[in-house]
Amino acid sequence: MSATNSAEPVDEDRRDFLYIATGAMAAVGTAALAWPFIDQMNPDASTRALASIDVDISLIEPGQAITVKWRGKPVFIRNRTDKEVEEARATPIEDLKDQSAENENLPAGSPATDVNRSAGEGKENWIVMIGSCTHLGCVPVGVAGNFGGWFCPCHGSHYDTAGRIRQGPAPRNLEIPVYEFTSDTTITIG
Ligand code: FES
Repeated sequence: MSATNSAEPVDEDRRDFLYIATGAMAAVGTAALAWPFIDQMNPDASTRALASIDVDISLIEPGQAITVKWRGKPVFIRNRTDKEVEEARATPIEDLKDQSAENENLPAGSPATDVNRSAGEGKENWIVMIGSCTHLGCVPVGVAGNFGGWFCPCHGSHYDTAGRIRQGPAPRNLEIPVYEFTSDTTITIG
């Protein structure tokens, strides 16, 4: 009995070792097989860099706008004047062709109020939108058109100061991408 008992731990140790070794081999094998697929799914550094951008807005005075490029698209960032905000706020939502905020930062179907189109309470003067006409994708011109917002000369679409379609063939408001204020003077888009 004593010989058997003394041999058992040795056998168990060996079994444990073999099990661990096999498990380790299996893990290495799986990792080696999986890596090429994972590696192919990782975007390269240049793609990751474009996924989001930081924009310094400290020099954009009220009434001014800039256009930045994000993921190959123009993005309008406009610091609206109080008058422009008031005009947009005074527009009844029933008058809007597209009554959805089209704002990726809000739940789908949120109403196209001015505050929902802007950067929100306390930052209503700021508006950030994809600069692509929702008709056929031309880049609208800023501070233009019958509503003082943007005008797309391709086929005559007029957007108001909240980027909402008011006249012409475009079916929807200018799209608002995912963005946030990451400091008082920086917007991160994407
Ligand atoms: S593309 Fe803007 S009106 Fe046609």
